[in-house]
Amino acid sequence: MALQDSKSPVAVVMGSDSDLNTMNNCIDQLKEFGITPIVRIISAHRTPDAAAQFADNAAANGIKIIIAAAGMAAHLAGSLAGRTQLPIIGVPLAAAEGPNGMDALLSTVQMPPGVPVASMAIGKAGAKNAAIFAVQILALSDPKLNEKLLTFRAAQSKKVIEKDQSLQSINK
Ligand code: RP5
Repeated sequence: MALQDSKSPVAVVMGSDSDLNTMNNCIDQLKEFGITPIVRIISAHRTPDAAAQFADNAAANGIKIIIAAAGMAAHLAGSLAGRTQLPIIGVPLAAAEGPNGMDALLSTVQMPPGVPVASMAIGKAGAKNAAIFAVQILALSDPKLNEKLLTFRAAQSKKVIEKDQSLQSINK
């Protein structure tokens, strides 16, 4: 099936294939919730026409949430947000060169009033949280997804409690 024929409520868009390793954390997390996202490599700077076309057609293509990840001067999330009313979740990434993602963080988070982007943390944590945040939005109108989120949170808490108990027993 061609990528543009895929249907999913979530699209994961990234500026370069060099972002894919980090963004696989997002894609895998979405899949754990039963959502197979549309995944595209689209650059605000290198393929601006494709970025505009993607944003313009996203809602009509059934996409409800766009996760946009980029490094360096990360304008992807903001440029998509300027062309669609769909919620955009931005993931700033650390590039091989430069200030460890601070460049991308500021480019993603500092949107002018009126055109918001929900910026996550830099890198892997942000990639995973983007998936969870997208699921939280979808779960507002999807009781089954809401149940999965509750289970996810409970399992996460249980792991921490078990680690604490194990530490307490070692330190006795
Ligand atoms: C950004 O520039 C991409 O999102 C990537 O994080 C960064 C470097 O891209 P490559 O030169 O590795 O393709 O647009």
